Amino acid sequence: MCGISGIVHSENVGRNLFNSIRNLEYRGYDSCGMAMLSKGEFDIRKNIGGIDEVNAIEQLDKMNGMIGIAHTRWATHGGVTQANAHPHLSYKREFVIVHNGIFSNYQELREQLMDQDVVFESLTDTEVFVNLLEASYSESNDLEKAFLAALKKIEGSYSIVMLSAHDPEHLYCVKKGSPLLLGLGEGCNYVGSDLNAFLEYTRQAIVLDDGEYVVLGRDDYQIRNVQTGEVTEKSVLHIDWDVETSKKGGYSHYMLKEIFDEPQAILQALKIPSEQISVLARMFTEASRAYFMGVGTTFYVANISQYYFSTLAGQYYASVSSDEFSIVTVEPGDLVLALSQSGETFDTKISLEYAKISGAQTAAIVNVMGSAISMMVDNVIMQGSGPEICVVSTKAALAQTFIMLRVALELGMMKGCLTQDVYQKHQEDLELFPELVQQILNEQSGFVRNIARDTSHVEHWLFLGCDIYYPVAMESALKMKEVTYQHAEGMPAGFLKHGTLSMVEKALHSLFFVPPMGQKVLHDRTLIAMEQVKARGGTVIGIIFQGDERALAACDQVVELPEMNLLCAPLAQMIMAQMFAYYAALDLGRNIDKPRNLAKSVTVG
Ligand code: G6P
Repeated sequence: MCGISGIVHSENVGRNLFNSIRNLEYRGYDSCGMAMLSKGEFDIRKNIGGIDEVNAIEQLDKMNGMIGIAHTRWATHGGVTQANAHPHLSYKREFVIVHNGIFSNYQELREQLMDQDVVFESLTDTEVFVNLLEASYSESNDLEKAFLAALKKIEGSYSIVMLSAHDPEHLYCVKKGSPLLLGLGEGCNYVGSDLNAFLEYTRQAIVLDDGEYVVLGRDDYQIRNVQTGEVTEKSVLHIDWDVETSKKGGYSHYMLKEIFDEPQAILQALKIPSEQISVLARMFTEASRAYFMGVGTTFYVANISQYYFSTLAGQYYASVSSDEFSIVTVEPGDLVLALSQSGETFDTKISLEYAKISGAQTAAIVNVMGSAISMMVDNVIMQGSGPEICVVSTKAALAQTFIMLRVALELGMMKGCLTQDVYQKHQEDLELFPELVQQILNEQSGFVRNIARDTSHVEHWLFLGCDIYYPVAMESALKMKEVTYQHAEGMPAGFLKHGTLSMVEKALHSLFFVPPMGQKVLHDRTLIAMEQVKARGGTVIGIIFQGDERALAACDQVVELPEMNLLCAPLAQMIMAQMFAYYAALDLGRNIDKPRNLAKSVTVG
């Protein structure tokens, strides 16, 4: 995934453009660059590294011009080199573009252009398009026509912003398969991969749809359909995310800030109108079969949700990792519910496409407005958790799980599995959860930090839980791996004795997710596994609930949560594990908000 941005202004916008890609850096951070046009001349600077690193070399923030484009890259075609970084200039230096996505037929076009004596500087698919554009322009001498002609020749998914000395007043932008939004200011306009590109400057936004292109001036814009050329009228959205929500605030890392945003994220999830929750629950009642789908963290959100649906609505739905969804036989009448924080994840997108082609109904819970997945499904719930900048998902994953819990409750009610009283009691418990989350964040972070510091050197962990606490353990182990780079294996506590127990010795640490004592059978099952580890000299850490003397006795160290209702207990444990991973990574000096080798949203296969 990459972040692209463009600004047309009546004043110098170098600094603003630089800030804009800085705010998009989480979309990709292996290289970046900017191109500005001033007095008919391009100034293009780019290099490898994060935004601040590149700025220290290239002084991006000192660039001058009233129109410019910028890009922050996560490599797909061509390695991480200065030549491959964007923006890309055409051979005759007439056009410059930034691009997010993939041109799938670029090899063959590249060869054709090379036959016409075009010399390429990079190995990117992007440079092919900008030269195609130049070739088209030499035929028509009309910029818009050339842009469209070049678009007709390329295949794949992309968003592009183009700047040319032939029209120094406008940016040419197009979207197909990768996100692109416009920001409307006064005497200035913006374009970017997401709202963070321009939220600092304007709250008025337009979400572009696939197949739309825009000629964007400082006071004017025209959105047209690439195929028909017809003008499209779009509604302007007022965005109420504040800029501060997008920033770190007083926290040392986005991850910590976003964990502390969780009470707010749950409040937002509670604000989703019940009608929307009912519409989604109703889709389950009407479906012949239904599947949950997500990948990475959202796959585990799906797994946790399975238990809520089974307990509250008496329904078992298979949850499938998006990258393995092709095994599922989907037929008309089926429902596929996708979970995706970013709404752009390639594996989830193609599996949804497959579901749609197969005639299934589709739905999604997504955090990013205007994202591809949010636009392609029959029914979407926007989770409203606010921007999540840390690559590792915390608040968005928690809020999604909470929304799934709301849907499961609704379905339970519709299917007559819950009485009105029980349903009402559960709703009241959910209403109280934001406050409870605030309380445990305030009270427990010190304890969690101490245990994390004591154990951050541990290279191998087992994360164990029974029933719903099993996927909670799996998700928590993923979090640990993502951010600390230490090995953590999540598994059902009852599975341990069937093999893994042989690994147990003092150095092997186990983190147990112990259910409240009220869940007697589960609690017993978990405690048996804990005692098995303890008896073999393993080191045991427990996330337990107050008053659990038996668990306390079996643990070397504990995090003790206040008593709470059974539905929210797994979510509270999930939060503690997020915090544990954070503090362990902090102690290890990891690159917490941008762990090595990872990207927030993987938009390629
Ligand atoms: C990437 C991220 C993971 C994330 C997964 C799914 O792999 O590194 O942290 O869980 O994508 O992302 P989504 O945006 O679809 O929830």
